[in-house]
Amino acid sequence: MALIRNYRHEHFAGVEALWQEAFPNDGPWNEPSIAIPEKMRFQPELMLVALVGPLIVGSVMAGYEGHRGWISRIAVLKTHRHKRIGQTLLLEAEKRLVALGCIKINLQVVETNSAIVRFYEQAGYSIEPRISMSKHLPRKV
Ligand SMILES: CC(C)(COP(=O)(O)OP(=O)(O)OC[C@H]1O[C@@H](n2cnc3c(N)ncnc32)[C@H](O)[C@@H]1OP(=O)(O)O)[C@@H](O)C(=O)NCCC(=O)NCCS
Repeated sequence: MALIRNYRHEHFAGVEALWQEAFPNDGPWNEPSIAIPEKMRFQPELMLVALVGPLIVGSVMAGYEGHRGWISRIAVLKTHRHKRIGQTLLLEAEKRLVALGCIKINLQVVETNSAIVRFYEQAGYSIEPRISMSKHLPRKV
């Protein structure tokens, strides 16, 4: 059984390995060395890991900007999938967003990963007719 915990610095290598496996085609802006310190500066309590003993088997990042909650980077090690660890991480992230007053969560799925929609539907999410857009900004140093 996996335990859900707040991310801590000592989890970095485990999350890095997990993300390498789960997101092999990631953009450089999602590098753990960029994304994790960013998250630790802002709502660090919304980054969670799933642990089996000392092993990081899952992670999720959430965020709330005062209007919508966002879920991203949910991942479970291949060896530990289909044991509801993903759903447990999602539920805990949702609980924390609710506690902040969030009433609606958005998330994005890359088109090539559309099979994963089923995972979110299991948790009550539905597809909305939206076009997803983004813009990269200079990094604050
Ligand atoms: C998505 C992910 C986190 C799910 O983790 P998990 O712990 O295996 O998920 P759960 O065991 O909680 O799944 C519950 C249900 O969701 C559905 N589901 C889970 N993974 C699925 C997948 N890859 N495709 C379709 N449905 C899936 C199934 O109905 C599953 O029930 P089942 O195991 O009885 O078939 C995991 O597959 C993963 O890390 N994928 C790679 C990273 C990724 O794509 N993340 C999402 C980015 S948007």
